[in-house]
Amino acid sequence: MIAYTALLDKAIVNPEGLSTNDVMALLTPPSLAATRRLWQTAHLLRLDATGKCIHLRAIIEFSNYCRQDCLYCGLRQGNRRVARYRMTPDAIVEAAIKAHKAHQFGTYVLQSGEDPGYDLEDLEWVVQEIKLATNAAVTLSIGERSYGVYQALQEAGADRFLLKFETSDGNLFRKLKPTTTLEQRLGCLDTLRGLGYQTGSGIILGLPGQDLESVASDLLLCRDADYEMVSIGPFIPHPDTPLGSVSLASNVCSTLTTIAVARLLVPNAHMPATTALGVIGQNDKWWKSEAPKLQDARSLALMAGANVLMLDVTPAKYRASYSIYPGKASADGDVICDSIWQTKQDVSNLSMTICPGRGDSPKQPWGRGSTDVKREGHFH
Ligand code: 5AD
Repeated sequence: MIAYTALLDKAIVNPEGLSTNDVMALLTPPSLAATRRLWQTAHLLRLDATGKCIHLRAIIEFSNYCRQDCLYCGLRQGNRRVARYRMTPDAIVEAAIKAHKAHQFGTYVLQSGEDPGYDLEDLEWVVQEIKLATNAAVTLSIGERSYGVYQALQEAGADRFLLKFETSDGNLFRKLKPTTTLEQRLGCLDTLRGLGYQTGSGIILGLPGQDLESVASDLLLCRDADYEMVSIGPFIPHPDTPLGSVSLASNVCSTLTTIAVARLLVPNAHMPATTALGVIGQNDKWWKSEAPKLQDARSLALMAGANVLMLDVTPAKYRASYSIYPGKASADGDVICDSIWQTKQDVSNLSMTICPGRGDSPKQPWGRGSTDVKREGHFH
């Protein structure tokens, strides 16, 4: 415990000085007391860097077509069992406006599979209309695109972009994402940052073949890239994928621990309490003993370094079909109002509040990747 506490102190003072071995040690606290100490340290760092309040993002999952064939994902092109849908541009804007009437979200996240089926002008129009109607920030999560597409959508008003690299282990990446490459994906992230998007990335935790060293390297990549947003979600096997019979390798505790270590390494990042964490928390009840009053494992992540909640405002009829992993779709009914109410309850149970406003990155200016900084350096 003493050695672990010393390592935590080192992480706070000098995260840049941490080696892969240090990060591996941070990821494996020697006792429950050390684990709690880690979570609490991450929580304090998060309060310091991003404040006490929680950012709510509304997410519209507007198409589940995907040209990629990632072995873990239920939306993979090869999955013939999923009912594909593609919302019209009008319907996407309408969904955002409807959500805005229920709660004035500061950010709308537009996510889809990697769907080549939209005209660029239509996507530009959607971004412009949502910005006009809500005055909120718009985040895109639509996969790997060309420089021209990223640029056009930014000119249309898109503020942020989410593109998880999923794993930084080249071999694992090649096996799990056969239709793209790690170089291509990291190249897209560089492009996005160069354009000045607030850029988010991150990983899936517990992928088959992923070991502790690989996770440590992933987190160090996030540190070195200094992403504005870092997302860590547990892998949940999907029955209609080649990894359907793999057993669950992460649990609530290991996910919280990884989120907390990520907070130590990228203190200024916005970090979501991921939906996938909420899903595994429904069966893995261990965390309830840590926080008996909370309804949702995601809330515990808000005490361990995370500071963002994503709320699904996709029209109810599409929800079941956006089956990235099982258990994701919530019940129907007035889903938007119900989940906003429940989220507010949990956030107030934690004595936290929901932030008004867009919730931009606390880093200023954002999106200036290390390459840019180096380039500017030549002029001084
Ligand atoms: N389990 C957990 N997360 C998954 N994702 C895709 N498939 C799974 C799965 N089976 C995540 C990826 C992607 C995000 C939208 O969903 O990280 O970036």
